Amino acid sequence: MKKKIAVLPGDGIGPEVMAEAIKVMAKIEKKYDIQVEQNWADVGGIAIDNHGNALPDSTITTCENADAILFGSVGGPKWEKLPPEKQPERGALLPLRKHFNLFANLRPAIVFRGLAGASPLKPEIIGEELDVLVVRELTGGLYFGQPKYREGDKAVDTMIYTRPEIERIAHIAFQAARQRGKKLCSIDKANVLTTMVFWREVVTEVGKQYPDVALSHMYVDNAAMQLVRNPRQFDVLLAENMFGDILSDEASMIAGSLGMLPSASLAAPPQGKTGAFGLFEPSGGSAPDIAGQGIANPIAQILSMGMMFQYAFGMPQVYNDVHQAVASVLAQGHRTRDISTPGQTSIGTQKMGDLIAQALS
Ligand code: IPM
Ligand code: MN
Repeated sequence: MKKKIAVLPGDGIGPEVMAEAIKVMAKIEKKYDIQVEQNWADVGGIAIDNHGNALPDSTITTCENADAILFGSVGGPKWEKLPPEKQPERGALLPLRKHFNLFANLRPAIVFRGLAGASPLKPEIIGEELDVLVVRELTGGLYFGQPKYREGDKAVDTMIYTRPEIERIAHIAFQAARQRGKKLCSIDKANVLTTMVFWREVVTEVGKQYPDVALSHMYVDNAAMQLVRNPRQFDVLLAENMFGDILSDEASMIAGSLGMLPSASLAAPPQGKTGAFGLFEPSGGSAPDIAGQGIANPIAQILSMGMMFQYAFGMPQVYNDVHQAVASVLAQGHRTRDISTPGQTSIGTQKMGDLIAQALS
């Protein structure tokens, strides 16, 4: 099999952790006899420096010619003074999502065995392992709804959801739940917002096609509270764009280190193909404070590469392999600085990448 990917390492720790994901990918290519052609392009701050724009046309073209986008992270103090819409985060991520119709955002919050101590919650709340998946709608709602403007002393954003937008993200969430713990909790604010009354109705209707998945509904404020009170009650959470933005940050903090968490943003699968075009990126940011020191945790980037095989190439066994390799390296006690406990020796970015690559063969 042959695949083509766009590699967009971006800023800060992006290039360092990307190098480790590529290293691990070489092992996957060998093991599964698949060739992945890499086309590298600038995105974010480095693209502003080199092309005057966080998402240059040439980068979009590279992505259009690929089966998937492997993304690092963008942003840093150097570009913080630019107007918000020109900054690396908004200037690159939001247009990429819209351009490629990446409506389904999957954000797993996983606490690996032995890492409960990295969570700010008490170990008894986390338990042995924790595995919650946040499914976030990514191209609708307040982020993109029109009208959106500023006029004198007034500013407007608009919350809009249409039936097809809710249906397609609900299907993704139900299908994900079906492959996991078969529990889906849909988040809304149906006690206040008309769009969210509609959201609950449509999700309930879609749910009739998934009788094997237990569907529940929860108001977003309660969900924010339940996530810290008892996160293990959740399997899959489904939320609209803005609520999903907030809850996925909360869920990932519960998991301890942002450096551990991958994510996938998927478009509708093209007819007749198993995989969906998507962008795969770590949940954490570019961490400019530790960039270039060789101490960043590459696990999120490596797991994101695994998610790319799972969702874009229809090879879920690759994700399982990568996940297993990460789990075994952690079980042997290896830790990068962000997940080590005081007094514990930690290893660097490259060493962690080497160990995970080794664990794969
Ligand atoms: C995220 C980020 C983005 C968002 C920002 C950078 C535009 O917070 O991916 O969650 O709000 O979606
Ligand atoms: Mn966010």
